[in-house]
Amino acid sequence: MEALICRKLGDPTGPMTETSPIAVSTSHPKPEIGSPTEVRVRVFSTSLNYANYLQILGKYQEKPPLPFIPGSDFSGVVESVGSGVGKFKVGDRVCSYASLGSYAEMIVVDENHLFLVPDGCDLVDAGALPVAFGTSHVALVHRAQLKPGQVLLVLGAAGGVGLSAVQIGKVCGAIVIAAARGPAKVNFLKSLGVDHAVNLSQDGIIESVKQFLKTRKLKGVDVLYDPVGGKLTKESMKLLNWGAHILVIGFASGEVPVIPANIALVKNWTIHGLYWGSYRTHCPRMLDDSLNELLSWLAKGLIFLNISHRYTLSEANLAFSAIKEREAIGKVMLVLARAATAKL
Ligand SMILES: NC(=O)c1ccc[n+]([C@@H]2O[C@H](COP(=O)([O-])OP(=O)(O)OC[C@H]3O[C@@H](n4cnc5c(N)ncnc54)[C@H](OP(=O)(O)O)[C@@H]3O)[C@@H](O)[C@H]2O)c1
Repeated sequence: MEALICRKLGDPTGPMTETSPIAVSTSHPKPEIGSPTEVRVRVFSTSLNYANYLQILGKYQEKPPLPFIPGSDFSGVVESVGSGVGKFKVGDRVCSYASLGSYAEMIVVDENHLFLVPDGCDLVDAGALPVAFGTSHVALVHRAQLKPGQVLLVLGAAGGVGLSAVQIGKVCGAIVIAAARGPAKVNFLKSLGVDHAVNLSQDGIIESVKQFLKTRKLKGVDVLYDPVGGKLTKESMKLLNWGAHILVIGFASGEVPVIPANIALVKNWTIHGLYWGSYRTHCPRMLDDSLNELLSWLAKGLIFLNISHRYTLSEANLAFSAIKEREAIGKVMLVLARAATAKL
């Protein structure tokens, strides 16, 4: 089968050659079903998350031995099932996430980790949903317990997790402030009906948000959703209300921010460190409920996936470039060539 292999750590954005960190193999062995409850899925689409990029660079917390097939969330069609599988049959449209291995034509997962894609939902969208929307749903709904009328500030708002946080914030009835860089991202966020969008390439976050809060007679930000870190976090802390929640999601800026404990004490802030992937081990039922709720929201049109870039496996270097160069608005996807020509 076709698979993208990470042979050595390094920048995956250059041309794919004999010596590049990533390369496509067209003769990789198909993964075998190893237990009665496993299912082999023919991958249709699989998403690029910032974490996948960091992992190939060797800068992610999980460091698999080389060589490995990167990739986490995906959608596809059930190709074969183990003898004990009861929930799925060949031909079902499914989506899921794995810690590795989705940048390939086939992947094997346990049936308990698979989700049925509702009729009418696009399969590429379903492959883009689990990590980005899953992270934001657990963060905002379960951890911060975002309420209608609360003020939510989303940093990196046009990125994969950011755009999902913006949409979930709206579904929860929050007043959503979105911060992103450049007019294309900001105009897109405005078209989604955010209450305020900060163009960080032009305006300072503190002044812009304070001005908005004043015009709406609001005191401050109740929930900070932060996948960026660095200076932006430091500045955003100046906007937080008494009793605010800080959701520590990631550090796309490359800088881990310091959140002073003395200020958290005085202001009664709650700081949530959130590692979504670990919920599978520690809180699997909650994760299942969360993803099923998101798939039902997708089917009802309450949320949508904005896929700004699509590539094939052999164009994976270009896909990683879109992430590296901060070009994505929403998700960057790899669509498997053979699957893409099938009628699903
Ligand atoms: N905790 C978890 O379980 C979890 C789950 C998923 C993702 N994450 C983390 O969340 C972060 C975002 O992931 P993602 O998949 O949404 O990435 P993404 O789609 O690439 O979005 C990242 C956003 O961060 C902003 N950014 C600011 N400084 C940046 C820089 N120096 N380089 C690149 N982007 C920068 C960019 O927005 P502007 O260009 O508008 O500034 C970009 O839109 C990553 O750190 C990732 O590891 C964590």
